[in-house]
Amino acid sequence: MPTLLMCPPDYYGIEYEINPWMDRRRPADTRQARDQWEALYHTIIQELTASVELLTPVPGLPDLVFTANGGFVGGDTFIVSNFRYSVRAREAPYFQGWFQKRGFKVVALPSGQYFEGEGDILPLGDELFAGYRFRSDVRSHLTVGSILSRRVFSLELVDPRFYHLDTCFCPLGEGAIMYYPNAFDVYGRRVIQEHIPLRRELSSPEALRFAANAIVVGKKVILNSGCPQIKGELEGMGYTVYEVDLSEFIKAGGSAKCLVLFVER
Ligand code: ARG
Repeated sequence: MPTLLMCPPDYYGIEYEINPWMDRRRPADTRQARDQWEALYHTIIQELTASVELLTPVPGLPDLVFTANGGFVGGDTFIVSNFRYSVRAREAPYFQGWFQKRGFKVVALPSGQYFEGEGDILPLGDELFAGYRFRSDVRSHLTVGSILSRRVFSLELVDPRFYHLDTCFCPLGEGAIMYYPNAFDVYGRRVIQEHIPLRRELSSPEALRFAANAIVVGKKVILNSGCPQIKGELEGMGYTVYEVDLSEFIKAGGSAKCLVLFVER
């Protein structure tokens, strides 16, 4: 059974601006954020065949809720993130500590190689697809691939609104993805077309509603609400789709997938 790591939004807020979604003049509603986060938590527990572990929230780390960015798990190895922005770099020791305590072998990357975990690297079958430019550094992909002995396809991201791979690319399993082609350069789009047989393209409005930022477990998908087109397509492919409104987290540039980290797949 898959295990996901989440962090309650006790100290969540828009306290700095490190992506185009964040605007300190548009603060998050604390109460609403809590309700939305709990709705996601309960949907995972009740509807997905998955369990959730919790990371203790830390005052002064408003983005710690986005656990996807803490690192990447491959078997019993945890590769801890090397955040690009100092405001988030302070989160790394908490992820490191959590995984160390549970017996994972924790590996750090060379200091110059930025890497933002599952936000920028996602498995599809035996291979890994990884995004770079706005956050992770392309060199980190090679390092991660050699640590885990897995082939990594590097994809350049070109639209700052889709600054992490998981904002525009979502593995659905069995050689299938949903993605937003305009978030990638021509070469990246070609790599995707050549290596992934089944591709569902997201429309701009739904990509901007974070449709790609979905949690997929087997044939079940948790999607941000308000994406009827892709919801219908996924249902047509045999997926069961659960919608959760995560508007308070979109204010920080994140949605469902950003709020979880796969500890076990
Ligand atoms: N405010 C956070 C940041 O800019 C949002 C992270 C969203 N996470 C993700 N996996 N896309 O770093």
